[in-house]
Amino acid sequence: MARDQKDYYYRKAKEEGYRARSAYKLQQINSKFHIIKKGDAVVDLGAAPGGWLQVARQLSGDMVVGVDLEPIEPIPGVTTIQADITREETVDRVKALLGRDADVVICDAAPNLTGIWDVDHARSIDLSRSALAMAKKVLRPGGRFLVKVFQGDMFIDYLNEVRREFGQVKSHSPQASRKESAEIYIIGKKLLSAPVRVGETYDVEITSSGSSGDGVALIQGFAVIVKGTSLGDRVKIAIKGVKPNFAFGAVVDDPKRES
Ligand SMILES: C[S@@+](CC[C@H](N)C(=O)[O-])C[C@H]1O[C@@H](n2cnc3c(N)ncnc32)[C@H](O)[C@@H]1O
Repeated sequence: MARDQKDYYYRKAKEEGYRARSAYKLQQINSKFHIIKKGDAVVDLGAAPGGWLQVARQLSGDMVVGVDLEPIEPIPGVTTIQADITREETVDRVKALLGRDADVVICDAAPNLTGIWDVDHARSIDLSRSALAMAKKVLRPGGRFLVKVFQGDMFIDYLNEVRREFGQVKSHSPQASRKESAEIYIIGKKLLSAPVRVGETYDVEITSSGSSGDGVALIQGFAVIVKGTSLGDRVKIAIKGVKPNFAFGAVVDDPKRES
């Protein structure tokens, strides 16, 4: 069954001129989640031989930059570099090529498989972490992220790392993935540019009030709305929700509160 499915997408890719059957995974994921839109600047990590690059270019019609350890045969409208996505210098090279913030970072990178499940899973998580680190540095605030991960016991920790950085996060297995495959794709939308994260606590002073009448504290210039507080209160808060331009906090302990 899995073999038939593989052959179907393999043949289809040959017929339609895609370099890899994985092109259909990106098409299917994009139909469902709308990650790449017209005019987007896209960075593709672990991009060889280039199936995703072909699809990304068709979807965006704009700047697409691909990175892989392996060389990639030229694709019209696409810039590629041979580089290691785990190295810091690669971030600088990608930024220089883009010349602007990226709208989307996609990553289908996979380690050389050893067949030892724990090792392959750990290496996949390492690559996914590098992709997340790159995304945080090259994406515009509000940008989108798609990354492949091999499932295993570190998956949930990684998923939570992505959740800390993006306002909307989902995971998904496209139909074009082989049935026996343990790969899963994580989709992150609305990259958060806030200096605060859900669960963190801060001692703050309420320095203004919002339109709702609740107090507002500034953390590194970022507005945090704290329900039930008023101007001049000094309170300890926990961050309960983060939006691109503001956050919600709740008082957790207010021994020094002045009203
Ligand atoms: C499954 S293939 C990607 C297929 C691609 N999405 C396509 O549609 O053609 C995984 C790629 O990840 C690349 N890769 C693995 N580790 C990497 C690293 N540290 N830096 C850059 N690329 C890496 C491999 O060289 C390989 O080409």
